[in-house]
Amino acid sequence: MSDFLDLAGRRALITSGTRGAGAATVALFRQLGARVMTTARSAPAGAGDGFVAADLATAAGCLTVAEAVRRQLEGVDIVVHMLGGSSAPGGGFSALDDGQWDKELSLNLFPAVRLDRELVPGMIA
Ligand SMILES: NC(=O)c1ccc[n+]([C@@H]2O[C@H](COP(=O)([O-])OP(=O)(O)OC[C@H]3O[C@@H](n4cnc5c(N)ncnc54)[C@H](OP(=O)(O)O)[C@@H]3O)[C@@H](O)[C@H]2O)c1
Repeated sequence: MSDFLDLAGRRALITSGTRGAGAATVALFRQLGARVMTTARSAPAGAGDGFVAADLATAAGCLTVAEAVRRQLEGVDIVVHMLGGSSAPGGGFSALDDGQWDKELSLNLFPAVRLDRELVPGMIA
């Protein structure tokens, strides 16, 4: 794998990197040589450089992460939006009220929109 994909020197932001698929992605990117920053609401044991605590379901949390990326990594080459999931009840359009839609969009859509808005211009430049 490391011969196939060499990420040495690349700077990566991977959201939700403290558990599950996000943690596995962080471990893989580090193994491939990337400098990784990750984020979650609670810091895992031993978290230091490379972790920033923030609630990405909020605009302020996204800004906190973007500023930490600019400060600690001095920019970013790769963004992996791992955050997601759903606590909505079954039943689709006929069951979900506006509050549930707000909650789903705040977790599954707006973090990527807000982080891209902050970080992609620097990536293009
Ligand atoms: N698990 C599955 O079967 C499955 C299947 C298909 C797709 N997926 C997708 O794969 C991705 C990862 O899922 P997973 O099940 O591996 O994750 P997970 O184990 O549930 O981990 C969730 C991660 O997200 C963080 N997180 C949750 N809410 C947050 C918030 N508001 N702000 C910042 N961080 C937050 C958690 O840390 P904190 O709680 O400390 O914030 C944790 O690091 C998701 O996009 C999910 O939709 C999962």
